[in-house]
Amino acid sequence: MSKRLSKEALAEAGAGDKVTLIDHATGKQLELPVMGGTDGPKVIDIRTLYRETGYFTYDPGYTSTGSCASDLTFIDGEKGILRHRGYPIEQLAEKSDFVEVCHLLLYGELPTKAEREEFERDITYHTMLHEQLQYFYRGFRRDAHPMAIMVGVVGALSAFYHDTTDIFDREKRRTATHQLIAKMPTIAAMAYKYSIGQPFIYPRNDLGYAGNFLNMTFSVPSEEYKVSPVLARAMDQIFMLHADHEQNASTSTVRIAGSSLANPFACIAAGIASLWGPSHGGANEAVLNMLREIGSKDRIGEFIKRAKDKDDPFRLMGFGHRVYKNYDPRAGVLRKAAHEVLAELGKEDEPLLELAIELERIALEDDYFVDKKLFPNVDFYSGITLNAMGFPSSMFTVLFAVARTVGWVAQWKEMIKDEALKIGRPRQLYTGPAERDYVPMAKRK
Ligand code: CMC
Repeated sequence: MSKRLSKEALAEAGAGDKVTLIDHATGKQLELPVMGGTDGPKVIDIRTLYRETGYFTYDPGYTSTGSCASDLTFIDGEKGILRHRGYPIEQLAEKSDFVEVCHLLLYGELPTKAEREEFERDITYHTMLHEQLQYFYRGFRRDAHPMAIMVGVVGALSAFYHDTTDIFDREKRRTATHQLIAKMPTIAAMAYKYSIGQPFIYPRNDLGYAGNFLNMTFSVPSEEYKVSPVLARAMDQIFMLHADHEQNASTSTVRIAGSSLANPFACIAAGIASLWGPSHGGANEAVLNMLREIGSKDRIGEFIKRAKDKDDPFRLMGFGHRVYKNYDPRAGVLRKAAHEVLAELGKEDEPLLELAIELERIALEDDYFVDKKLFPNVDFYSGITLNAMGFPSSMFTVLFAVARTVGWVAQWKEMIKDEALKIGRPRQLYTGPAERDYVPMAKRK
């Protein structure tokens, strides 16, 4: 069945139905298939549009464009819903752990006991880095931003693990994805240790994923370091909450890079570069800097005013989201985690947390934020928690990258196996000069 394109026609369309676009100048009609997923709005398949009509669509920022079909993550931004493979993030954050969530994202199901043991053994097996990578670190300046080191070192993995870069070999794909998940905490902790001039700490496979990361980050060879179970659980929760978020900027970057069939290490390095920006993963670092700049509750009004001023580039960091037009469900979990971590560390009266809670309260009562549906996002409370745990703000986005690696590799793997895979190649609306003749130097003004 095919009906003229309208909201009603789309609402009624079922699988196999089409909507019709009519070019009134020529009377030509184009039938476009309607596709429906498990959940969420239906989509119009416009792949034939250019071939049949000679027109492109214009959609900077891809606000109305679905770039792929994916089984991994579902978000309903209006309702504040985030699910991985059907499981609500709140349930995963409370009942599961990061290793399980990795298995879920990569293989579609929560693991059985035997599957979990095998998966964890494999991840643990790959935690060490090639010894020569240490020399790569030593080439960086000590004051290099750890995200700069991450981009470089992860990109360099393809030089060190070249034997697993054959993306058409299923086993090699599997090894490369496990290597990336396993090595990322080691790479991140080494970036931190390098920046503070302390010796690198080797991974310990008797510790869990988050506990091992905390140990590599905070222990020193001269003293015993005991991993606090409360902090390890909080770290694990932060990893879970950042594991995947469907087609965000860094994930889309990984997919576009991978669509040329580049190796996974290079693709993940591209994802890390995209994540670094303050509109994306860099926002948690920016939130803490902003809270420090605000300094005290009596200055909140001044900053809210600035955020609303169109002539001031200042934005309330940790507020707003392209997809969520409701409370980001991850922010709710992190708000609770922030309280637990501060209680464990005896820092319940941390002024930054009090400031954040007050800022949130005032913003959520302000018409500007209410009308534009600007709610706290995942980054609003993560920085406070990580700061209390002892991480410098330059490490916040690094931790996001550690967690998001599983999302990136799971999405990359899904894309490589997708029959609809095509190299990512958007078109453009050209707005430069029309054709003109070459001007010799002597005649240029
Ligand atoms: N403070 C003040 N005004 C804002 C904010 C904010 N944080 N966010 C959006 N707005 C306004 C914006 O000025 C615009 O107003 P108008 O319609 O009058 O021009 C309107 O809200 C819509 O904003 P937009 O920039 O068109 O929305 P977007 O979907 O392109 O941007 C965003 C989403 C996350 C980049 C943006 O909300 C933002 O810059 N937030 C602050 C940075 C931040 O917290 N980023 C973390 C995002 S969550 C984690 C992640 O994805 O990595």
